[in-house]
Amino acid sequence: MRLSGLFFGAVTVLVQRVTAVDLVLRDEASVKSAASSIAFGLVKYYTGNNTGDVPGNLPDPYFWWEAGAMFGTLIDYWALTGDDSYNAITSQAMLHQGSDTRDFMPVNQTRTLGNDDQGFWAMTAMTAAELKFPDPPKDQAQWLALAQATFNQYASRWDTATCGGGLRWQIFNFNTGFNYKNSISNGCFFNIAARLARFTGNQTYAEWAAKVWDWQESMNLFRDGDVLDGVGIKQVNGEEVCPDHIDQIQWSYNAGIFLHGAAAMYNFTDGNPIWKRRVDEMLNSTTEAFYNTTAVNSDTPVLHEQFCESHVICNIDQRSFKGYLTRWMARTTQLVPHTYDVIYPLLESSAKAAARACSGTTPAPAFKGHPGTACGFSWTTGGFDGLVGVGEQMNALSAIASTLIDRTAAPVTADTGGTSSGDPAGGANGPGSSPVRELRAITTGDRVAAGFLTSAIALSIVAGCAFVMI
Ligand SMILES: *[C@@H]1O[C@H](CO)[C@@H](O)[C@H](O)[C@H]1NC(C)=O
Ligand SMILES: *[C@@H]1O[C@H](CO)[C@@H](O)[C@H](O)[C@H]1NC(C)=O
Ligand SMILES: *[C@@H]1O[C@H](CO)[C@@H](O)[C@H](O)[C@H]1NC(C)=O
Ligand SMILES: *[C@@H]1O[C@H](CO)[C@@H](O)[C@H](O)[C@H]1NC(C)=O
Ligand SMILES: *[C@@H]1O[C@H](CO)[C@@H](O)[C@H](O)[C@H]1NC(C)=O
Ligand SMILES: *[C@@H]1O[C@H](CO)[C@@H](O)[C@H](O)[C@H]1NC(C)=O
Repeated sequence: MRLSGLFFGAVTVLVQRVTAVDLVLRDEASVKSAASSIAFGLVKYYTGNNTGDVPGNLPDPYFWWEAGAMFGTLIDYWALTGDDSYNAITSQAMLHQGSDTRDFMPVNQTRTLGNDDQGFWAMTAMTAAELKFPDPPKDQAQWLALAQATFNQYASRWDTATCGGGLRWQIFNFNTGFNYKNSISNGCFFNIAARLARFTGNQTYAEWAAKVWDWQESMNLFRDGDVLDGVGIKQVNGEEVCPDHIDQIQWSYNAGIFLHGAAAMYNFTDGNPIWKRRVDEMLNSTTEAFYNTTAVNSDTPVLHEQFCESHVICNIDQRSFKGYLTRWMARTTQLVPHTYDVIYPLLESSAKAAARACSGTTPAPAFKGHPGTACGFSWTTGGFDGLVGVGEQMNALSAIASTLIDRTAAPVTADTGGTSSGDPAGGANGPGSSPVRELRAITTGDRVAAGFLTSAIALSIVAGCAFVMI
């Protein structure tokens, strides 16, 4: 994933039409038809199944991780609506990206592949196992095994040499952000570990989930239930000093990834009061931070990306985060049933607002879905804001389809119908499976370069904040 630094996205001026995606909440046919229009517009961005293209890749400017997230969104869409139109391209993409090394570490992505990028594909595989997405042929990588391979590699990358533990953002020391330990990378580890514990019943996964949570707490990355972005590491006389700074920005996907993982732990531990308190506290903060209470045309708060949305400065990655929080909130209602009464009304208000925002018409080639149904980014304005793309389509698709969560089966486990086969020892042979060794081999030259890059991140954050204050 790219830096969270801010830039002004080019805002295309688009012709607005009055047509929108029609949506009548709680009318199953209407919800499915609205979701289907939006899914159609989403998949039109995908070129990976065209002759000569690479399955699993989205065209520029979308990074590889976002494609992994898109297929997770499409698996959820299938599970919620029963529409299997995109199952074939989803399997094809997952297997193409996962099968060579059986760990979502494709060599082609080495230059940008961070722990979080790998994690979004692995969480998609975990979702496939939990929702009984059709299993691949036996000679191919299996969903559960892909998630386990990623888990094992995360465990091997756990870095106690600095900050007493945690995963670094990057896997390879030549990539920008190697000197940053962030909540999304550790959140991927936590979320996958918690769900593997629940799916397999193996206590080792639960122990790792607890360990990641404790580490986040020890770094003050949880502030009364708010999830802060990460800690930077500085080089002083050739030694790494931690933390150099804490990036305090709150992103909706960081909140969601920990909320959902904590929900899986609550469910796995049969309602343990520690996990109950953690879920409740994080849910309280999440609803407070990310639901806008003054949204136009809504009596109930509506999901917004609080840090960048109203300033119109969210980058391409950030413009997809609301969709993940939505999906994780929806699944939390199944794993922790008492959260339903708080979460479901927020899913409905956001779905309604998202449908209103799906009323854009744009000249080709940006959007190729049904005319008049391009989804804008902001849902609080009561209309279409002119920002379109894969993130906007995914967010709205998840918002609308997630209102079917109350009539959809909960994620299964190996004991309650799961069929995906696993490999507890997976991930040991792929490239990048032993970066712990690589860490020890860092040279002074690398350190200088990495230190410079960290400053670049710190500066971009400072610059971003300064802009927001102005
Ligand atoms: C790619 O997938 C889309 C959506 O399922 C489908 O409409 C299209 O025909 C496929 N293209 C090829 C070349 O298979
Ligand atoms: C890697 O890139 C090559 C060349 O574009 C392509 O043929 C191959 O399918 C890609 N592999 C993966 C896993 O994306
Ligand atoms: C765990 O999830 C299942 C499936 O949704 C649910 O039936 C069960 O009540 C949950 N367990 C607890 C302790 O809430
Ligand atoms: C969450 O908010 C509810 C309602 O305001 C409150 O009753 C509860 O104590 C809070 N829970 C935690 C763990 O903060
Ligand atoms: C909530 O949405 C309204 C309408 O778009 C906007 O004016 C306001 O700034 C938003 N509030 C926050 C805290 O971003
Ligand atoms: C439980 O998971 C750990 C960690 O991957 C693995 O080493 C162990 O073999 C697993 N145990 C069983 C019974 O599968």
